[in-house]
Amino acid sequence: MAETLGNGLQERYDFARDLGRQVGLEALRYWEQHGAQGLGIQSKGLQDFVTKADKAAENTIRTEINKRFPADGFIGEETGGAPEASGYWVVDPIDGTANYMRGLRHWGISIAYVSDGKTQLGIVHDAPTDRLYHARLGTGAFCDGLPIRVSSTIDPHAATGILGMSRRIQIDSYLNQIRTLYEAGIEYRRIGSAAIGIIRVAEGVADFYYEGHLNSWDALAAVLIAQEAGGTANVPPMDMFIADGGEVLCATPALSEQLIGLLSSTTGTSKSQLLSL
Ligand code: IPD
Ligand code: CA
Ligand code: CA
Repeated sequence: MAETLGNGLQERYDFARDLGRQVGLEALRYWEQHGAQGLGIQSKGLQDFVTKADKAAENTIRTEINKRFPADGFIGEETGGAPEASGYWVVDPIDGTANYMRGLRHWGISIAYVSDGKTQLGIVHDAPTDRLYHARLGTGAFCDGLPIRVSSTIDPHAATGILGMSRRIQIDSYLNQIRTLYEAGIEYRRIGSAAIGIIRVAEGVADFYYEGHLNSWDALAAVLIAQEAGGTANVPPMDMFIADGGEVLCATPALSEQLIGLLSSTTGTSKSQLLSL
């Protein structure tokens, strides 16, 4: 009933799920047709790349949103934007571009919709497996049609998480994270896509994801999905996240407090805080 009175969230949710899958499958097809040598790779900085497929994916998402919801705002990794409207989309057309370029399987499409200062919708398409992960605030998290749930791990000595790092972070803080986890008896992996890493937490495959700095487009969609799957999220306040990005920890609840204590001290100037749903 509330929906018919109309904030249009369900309509946007249905639309974004279809769009995420469509764009993910297009990017996959593009790679299959052109191969690693035909992607038109350009460097944006040290170990930071963009391909024709990233640009095409963002162009499709931006154009389709603009056609269907012309009053909505848009922020995309490749074409920018600002939170100018009361509701706006935050898009990473391909998260894990370096993996995509090489044919490594961890990459995906990330689409979030924000209004009232909160992520309302999160869609991540894990394109190489054609699995669509999605959540609408307050209504649970799903992989395709099935509910997903974070792990029930409570023993840190049985825990495996995923770390991310980029050139935006000092190497010493990353080395500190590894050492700190090692000394606490906690395992970790690094997979090259923050969105997919956080999704692995949401579906209970990994027990946490931590990165000292992420941009909003890397993380907003997947963080909502992880929260709706029962996980905790330690992230910057929305306005700071949109403006500058920041530290992100998503975890299964029993490990969350310990991990915040261990990891946030390694980054130094954290403004992140535990989000409540
Ligand atoms: C990057 C990936 C990577 C993470 C970086 C991100 P991109 O995004 O998510 O795993 O560690 O911080 O910038 O460049 O592949 O869209
Ligand atoms: Ca990204
Ligand atoms: Ca990207």
